[in-house]
Amino acid sequence: MDSQGATLPPHVLIFPVPIQGHVNSMLKLAELLCLSGLDITFMVSDFSHARLLKHTTVVSRFNQYPGFRFQSITDGLPADHPRVGEQVMDILSSTKNITAPLFKQMMIEKNLFASETRRSITCIIADGVLTFAGDFAEEKGIPLIYFRTISASSFWAYFCIPELIEAGEISHEGIGMDQIVKSVPGMEGFLRFRDLPSFCRAKDINEPKLRIAESVTRQTTRAQAAIFNTFEDLERPTVSLIRKHIPKVFTIGPNHSHLKSRLAKTKADNSVLSGSFWAEDRSCLDWLNAQPPKSVIYVSFGSITAVTIEQLLEFWHGLPPKSVIYVSFGSITVVSREQLLEFWHGLVNSGQRFLWVMRPDSVLGEDRKDQTLIELEEGTKARGYMVGWAPQEEVLNLEAVGGFLTHSGWNSTLESIVAGVPMICWPYFGDQTINSRFVSEVWKIGLDMKDTCDRKIIERAVRELMEERKDEFLERSKNLAKLARKAVSEGGSSYNNLDALIDYIKSMII
Ligand code: UDX
Repeated sequence: MDSQGATLPPHVLIFPVPIQGHVNSMLKLAELLCLSGLDITFMVSDFSHARLLKHTTVVSRFNQYPGFRFQSITDGLPADHPRVGEQVMDILSSTKNITAPLFKQMMIEKNLFASETRRSITCIIADGVLTFAGDFAEEKGIPLIYFRTISASSFWAYFCIPELIEAGEISHEGIGMDQIVKSVPGMEGFLRFRDLPSFCRAKDINEPKLRIAESVTRQTTRAQAAIFNTFEDLERPTVSLIRKHIPKVFTIGPNHSHLKSRLAKTKADNSVLSGSFWAEDRSCLDWLNAQPPKSVIYVSFGSITAVTIEQLLEFWHGLPPKSVIYVSFGSITVVSREQLLEFWHGLVNSGQRFLWVMRPDSVLGEDRKDQTLIELEEGTKARGYMVGWAPQEEVLNLEAVGGFLTHSGWNSTLESIVAGVPMICWPYFGDQTINSRFVSEVWKIGLDMKDTCDRKIIERAVRELMEERKDEFLERSKNLAKLARKAVSEGGSSYNNLDALIDYIKSMII
């Protein structure tokens, strides 16, 4: 290293799976590391990069950090691939088969992104699912840290797949959905078969999804360290069990809240970092601000479909106070026409106000102009407000929001916890089935309606959350939110762990 090189900061390559939920939390990690003066190359797919450029201010946001660069690469899927629902899993094979060799070639040709002003990559922080990035790090002797976007508890359940198979607790006929699972240490009392990550519902033990989930999780141990977007007070018992297999585990989350806390100390502007792939319809903020406190349920089912933003519905005036719920199912979830109508009837019949995020193409086989949606729109006018994509972090923190009907994606769960908003969980797939069990049985900050989609159950759940048991859910949610904020404040566990992580990354170049 020459004398100039010796003064240069560490250079970290951050490589998320190029889907919304993963990019969101790893972008926040990137800004957290930028704040400490580290150089970052953020590898993102061409597809996601184009969406980020189009719909967010993320580029200008990162322009303030001279050490930050985006680098894009193909995700290996054709441009018109839907990238939603279970088809999102195609990204795992396409990145492995097509992106991996190109990534390797790029890293070699670009000399590990070294320049006069930047070291070559000193550490790779790869999404734990991108095993090829781990292979490359290992081959080149570059320190490797895996970042997992799922909860520590979901990770741990995946980690225990061999024991679950050995004990005959998954993948054979005759297992009851409500059978208590004994082979996931720490969760023996309350985890049912139906709560295991959805891939455990495989018909036989050789089903590829199950085996991939197992091998991807088990190979985490080859990394020098792992980072989890969680905090000790939330998942301490599970994190201790993981530490027996991966000694260096840094719990630094909730990342979005941690970022706000650090920005508040170092910069005047600590506004939300939006990594949305879709333009946010901010008109819903005005509507929410006009509602009474804790009166809205937010409904959102997640994030993976490509949509253009479009306001679907007009306000409905004259609703009674304290009656709105936020509904959102994240970026990947798709619902059938029947499920959509069950949700709609359930929400309308509950008599509550709701803000519902519905990506226009999130309904299976549905054309937006289809009669179902027209009917839905008419009906919804009488009950709430609907948008194609919301600024969720901000929405959840508004006083009017009293509940969140969610698909239990881990980012959404953490965002709700930090905002102190109780949840109704309707997990879609993967890790979400575990998250919802923890929400209802461990943290007791909401209700879990997995494996059901019936208007009566939905109506019942909304009434329970927003009326009958409102106070107890709000009280516990408020307490957990306090613990989350403590974790990311100076002296808190996540705050200290991030400092330790940065020292660790710095120690790699000495
Ligand atoms: C998926 C998995 O479900 C999740 O468990 C995993 O950890 C990451 O990948 P996704 O289904 O999109 O993610 O859900 P989630 O993790 O909740 O992420 C969705 C993100 O999109 C959240 O950060 C949420 O704030 C954001 N979002 C969602 C919006 O900004 N606006 C919306 O309208 C809806």
